[in-house]
Amino acid sequence: MKALRAVFAATTALCAASAANATDLEVTHWWTSGGEAAAVAEFAKAFDATGNKWVDGAIAGSGGTARPIMISRITGGDPMGATQFNHGRQAEELVEAGLMRDLSDVAAEGKWDEIVFPKSLLDSCTLDGKIFCVPVNIHSQQWLWLNNSVYENLGIPVPSNWDEFVAAAPKLEEAGIVPLAMGQQPWQTTLAFQVLLVALAGPETYTQVFGDKDADLAAGPELAKIFQAAAVARDMAKNSNVQAWNDATNMVITGKAGGQIMGDWAQGEFQVAEQVAGKDYTCLPGLGVNEVIMTGGDAFYFPKVDDPAITAAQGELAKVMISPETQVAFNLKKGSLPVRGDVDLTAANDCMRKGLDILSKGNIIPGPDQLMSADSIAQVNDLFVEFFNNPSMSAEDAQALFASIIGNAD
Ligand code: GAL
Repeated sequence: MKALRAVFAATTALCAASAANATDLEVTHWWTSGGEAAAVAEFAKAFDATGNKWVDGAIAGSGGTARPIMISRITGGDPMGATQFNHGRQAEELVEAGLMRDLSDVAAEGKWDEIVFPKSLLDSCTLDGKIFCVPVNIHSQQWLWLNNSVYENLGIPVPSNWDEFVAAAPKLEEAGIVPLAMGQQPWQTTLAFQVLLVALAGPETYTQVFGDKDADLAAGPELAKIFQAAAVARDMAKNSNVQAWNDATNMVITGKAGGQIMGDWAQGEFQVAEQVAGKDYTCLPGLGVNEVIMTGGDAFYFPKVDDPAITAAQGELAKVMISPETQVAFNLKKGSLPVRGDVDLTAANDCMRKGLDILSKGNIIPGPDQLMSADSIAQVNDLFVEFFNNPSMSAEDAQALFASIIGNAD
């Protein structure tokens, strides 16, 4: 009987201990599409396995909707346990205001400076030598996604580059198929423009405009060609009457549209629809013209809170998110690339392999969020929403407005 009592006491103590460690952590993000939800479930599963509890704080809409909510909660004294932002400068003011937790201890213990690749991702988390976020993926915006059967059914070879895609458009329109699917959330129209800029004018021109804020280049003949291409894209997307990016992706998946310029998170939707890369759909990095990978993507930040249990759970979550096994499980579902080079991605599909190959060659460029302040990005977004929604806005007028935004951007 004595032994039984001892076992009971030990079990109770163990449960109490684990219960004491079981901290609920509210995590906010904007991953609400099918593919995104499948990916975020991998984070939740891995975090729950530590004995803590992932309390999902999904905010519907896009990052442009979610980020103001996240920021106002943090500045308003109602912080979540952890939150998503993109790589780059979106949380810069929160960090400068001392509202975010310094993760340098966790980063040092996990040797992040040795494992994170490319290092620019960790640089984007670093301010005054301290690390304030854990990078979790690499998302490149530089992709064109094509539904193979749309072209094959019309007797057209699946396009291998932008020019072939444009040339095929009239045949698709005759068949009642939208050549280019595009949602109208502000960031989507800017995304289409800067993907065209990188593909058709080259990565250097993109970096000079978005990074160096070269207004003369922005106003010049090279960019005039890009605005002409943007006008062609606008015409090809004129019957794409959806808002959300994943609804536009669904148009491609279901054959209502031929293609979509979108980041590789679109791949999560193809996967949920059980489409096979290379067989059902084709992905063209850099629109099949300039094969580069943009090191955009996501990182998680942790508001500073005066609660040791929450603080400990935050550190646990950061460690879990960057662990090799979670990096594989999450990124395969998300359609993104891992932030560390020492993981086994044998399950990667054709498109992820194309991305990993470009990454390994070092053909990488920073995302706009890493080059330009959130305010300046918002002004660029507003311009392209107007341009893509207003066919009477000429390419010349749009370029003049763009050049002045670039001239005042930071
Ligand atoms: C991006 C984010 C991706 C993807 C996309 C659409 O900002 O980096 O993870 O989810 O938004 O929601």
